[in-house]
Amino acid sequence: MSARQVYISGKMVPEQDAKISIFDSAVMLGDTVTESTRTFRHQPFKLERHIERLYKSLKVTRIDAGHTPEEMLGISLEVLEANLPLLGEGDDCWLVHNISRGQSMAGADPTKQLSPATVMIFTMFLNLRDWAQFYTDGCHAVTAMSRAVPSQALDPRVKNRSRMAYTLAEAEVKLVDPQAQGILLDIYGNVAENKGANVFLVSEGEIRTPTTANALSGVSRETIFELAATEGIAVREMDLQVYDLYTADEIFFTSTPYCIMPATRFNGLPVGDGQVGPIVKRLLAAWSRLVEMDIVQQGRDQIAADGSK
Ligand SMILES: Cc1ncc(COP(=O)(O)O)c(C=O)c1O
Repeated sequence: MSARQVYISGKMVPEQDAKISIFDSAVMLGDTVTESTRTFRHQPFKLERHIERLYKSLKVTRIDAGHTPEEMLGISLEVLEANLPLLGEGDDCWLVHNISRGQSMAGADPTKQLSPATVMIFTMFLNLRDWAQFYTDGCHAVTAMSRAVPSQALDPRVKNRSRMAYTLAEAEVKLVDPQAQGILLDIYGNVAENKGANVFLVSEGEIRTPTTANALSGVSRETIFELAATEGIAVREMDLQVYDLYTADEIFFTSTPYCIMPATRFNGLPVGDGQVGPIVKRLLAAWSRLVEMDIVQQGRDQIAADGSK
């Protein structure tokens, strides 16, 4: 099988030939903005929205990617195109952008970029195996002890790769239950987000989610707003506390790879009746119709394919 082709600062190369300096600000400082897009039926989903969000992150972090958004879109499609032949017919992939400020030097002024940005774009096989069971059984959502990075320090709308805080928070919840998915609270005790997902609940027939004052403006979150509108379900952005999660009828996460992940337990207690709820089921069905494939079945098929080997 031919090697995966990745894009690094102007060149498309086999992945083993993609190298960055140990002095890159990605390594030295975790000074990198990022995007993750996925495909459905090998077609990128809302890639333009991801590129838009990427350019907002680049602007706020003062990183000059050296490309217009249109050029970035074109390069991204080339990377995807080059790697689609590696994908099985029923499978899909991520398309990831990591862009760092380039060379870093101790004491350097971050408003002056010392080199062109390091632009890294690659695809990854979308492995749904660890999430697939959650579509039908739901996951266990657990609050982390550590709090979300306060927006006063770093606005959560900047999608960045400085992930030490979120990695440690996720480790805390995995110590409670290896299968748990974390929910971070902000420094005021309001529900913020998961290390890689937005959090929603359903109460009184209404979908509720934190505002983007303490959470990323997720592309999947936005898709929930659109699907809920077509389904005639009200959505409200508001401050939510742990109490609201304990007393919710449904809880779910949204993120690019799995779209929607219901939680049927929260901090050890059942969510509603402890089953995946009707609103999540409606949203998953609506999302599947939108992308013209069965999102839940794709995960099941990957597991079934392992069993038949
Ligand atoms: C911190 C955080 N929140 C939320 C999300 C979900 O965003 P999206 O729906 O755009 O994937 C992500 C995605 O990686 C994330 O990193």
